[in-house]
Amino acid sequence: MRSHYCGQINESLIDKTITLCGWVHRRRDHGGVIFIDLRDREGVVQVVFDPNAASAFAIAEKVRSEYVLRIEGNVRFRPEGTRNAELPTGQIEVVVNNIEILNAAETPPFQLDEENVSEEIRLRYRYIDLRRPEMQARLKLRNKITHLLRQFFDEQGFLEIETPILTKATPEGARDYLVPSRTHSGQFFALPQSPQLFKQLLMMAGMEKYYQIVRCFRDEDLRADRQPEFTQLDIEMSFIDETIIQNMMESMMRRLFKEILNENLPNPFPTMSYHEAVHRYGTDKPDLRVPLELTDIGDLMADVEFKVFAKPANDPNGRVAALCVPNGKELSRKQIDDYTDFVAIYGAKGLAYIKVNDITAGRNGLQSPILKFLPDKAIEGILERTKAATGSMIFFGADKAKIVNESLGALRLKIGEDLKIMQKGWKPIWIVNYPMFERDDKENRFVALHHPFTAPNISDIQILEDNPKDCLSRAYDMVLNGTEIGGGSIRIHKPEMQSAVFRVLGISESEAREKFGFLLDALKYGCPPHGGIAFGLDRLVMLMSSATSIRDVIAFPKTQTASCLMTDAPSLVNQQQLRELHIRLRTKQADN
Ligand code: AMO
Ligand code: AMP
Repeated sequence: MRSHYCGQINESLIDKTITLCGWVHRRRDHGGVIFIDLRDREGVVQVVFDPNAASAFAIAEKVRSEYVLRIEGNVRFRPEGTRNAELPTGQIEVVVNNIEILNAAETPPFQLDEENVSEEIRLRYRYIDLRRPEMQARLKLRNKITHLLRQFFDEQGFLEIETPILTKATPEGARDYLVPSRTHSGQFFALPQSPQLFKQLLMMAGMEKYYQIVRCFRDEDLRADRQPEFTQLDIEMSFIDETIIQNMMESMMRRLFKEILNENLPNPFPTMSYHEAVHRYGTDKPDLRVPLELTDIGDLMADVEFKVFAKPANDPNGRVAALCVPNGKELSRKQIDDYTDFVAIYGAKGLAYIKVNDITAGRNGLQSPILKFLPDKAIEGILERTKAATGSMIFFGADKAKIVNESLGALRLKIGEDLKIMQKGWKPIWIVNYPMFERDDKENRFVALHHPFTAPNISDIQILEDNPKDCLSRAYDMVLNGTEIGGGSIRIHKPEMQSAVFRVLGISESEAREKFGFLLDALKYGCPPHGGIAFGLDRLVMLMSSATSIRDVIAFPKTQTASCLMTDAPSLVNQQQLRELHIRLRTKQADN
């Protein structure tokens, strides 16, 4: 139906007759001449209707925004003075001989170039939203990225293998999406939170190098970088160690960024232990673009009278830390109050500070509501350790370590943005040496920090079971500009170790059998040492396209409450379907 895409028309086609198909982006009536900006996937071109070509002109008078047209015309230079250097097609226009309305369109619920359209409207009419050049560019970029990734893994000798969607629960820390079985009354499939177990089984099946671009499902609280269904670039390899896979993933990332964004990522990526990341940045996903760090001052506060600091300083689960902001002196009283409200979101009970007006003037050079509570020695220690200087502002957090880390960690990023001290560019980092287990105080048991198939960095089962708290894992996460984009590990490949880890996690032998019997069996029949990683593809595309939410790089995403506004899913089903699935819904009354 067409000879060219709209966006491809340029000076090389002057005087040629061409045929275009597309949507009416804008229509302007200029004293007898009608201009239409015709849009397709590749761009926009100006087409012109002259009243002398009467029949085409008459049709052009009828068309409105988003009508679908086919036109035939001749390419000519735009008159001098009307050329647009910003637009790839800005030098030329198409004089129309023939026009056909392929379809009319009702007035769209929003104009494509309208700003501040609510996300609700955009999601409800996603097929219109996706016509916006910005959205098209993101989906094209996504396609380019997946294409390049497939090429990379193909070159490296990986096999792309699909794994089941209707399956059994894979524990990755979220709730499962369940699918009732019609043929097995009362039984359910779970949608995979990741293909973790299947990819390990593929190693046991001798596939050696596996990858898949695969949908995963997690019923968890949603945020800008989390969707209930999202896509992983999932990878597993046999006969490898951490170095081999980390190096390979680094070269994948370097190539991706070079070829797509022409950016050079560091070689090698820096590596930091989990412990160090949490101490210096309050998080295991540090954004290294912000040149601020937390400093421990607990030892300086252990004996001070100020209970707010002394108590957590003497609590093994507590932390007292400082965040020193060079040139932070300029922050106003109001900003400090706002920051105090901000850290309260993370549970902080206050935000003490010291403003350094003159570092050479001792106490007199400082301004702070807590100065009176602190002896000289403590103050000297703080100034020295935080490397404070004249003009610095030092903030303090004192509480349970988790609260201090989360609140000062978040404050660090906020101040980085507010004071515009965020560095430009891409700062990837590997975080390693994670603890194997974390204590879940609510449930009073250990949980796996990664998943339960991650190998510990010791092979002695006795040590693991005697002292799980101190045991580190062979996991590695890749963090880019403060976003966790990938996580993986070397896996357990011995059945005895896998059973021991289940025991530490409080999973009884019968429960382990029932849930993971197939895995425990497979480990007995010749399992190679293996390991892998999975990247959040949506997050990667989000970062590479400078989008602020993964919803902007997914064609049909879900809302914050995990629904689809366009199709109205999830929705009710009829009684007949429920009966076939052996399901009776609880009424509100029965629930109470
Ligand atoms: P993990 O749970 O860390 O590891 O997931 C891997 C990566 O997937 C992305 N991700 C998400 N993206 C969008 N929405 C979500 N709800 C979401 N959850 C996770 C993150 C994360 O780094 N099986 C292991 C991998 C392995 O060990 O090989 C796994 O799934 O970017
Ligand atoms: P108060 O003695 O409660 O008036 O607190 C004195 C200063 O310490 C105020 O600036 C508070 O914001 C701050 N503060 C109180 N609790 C904490 C805390 N847990 N961590 C950091 N600062 C705090």
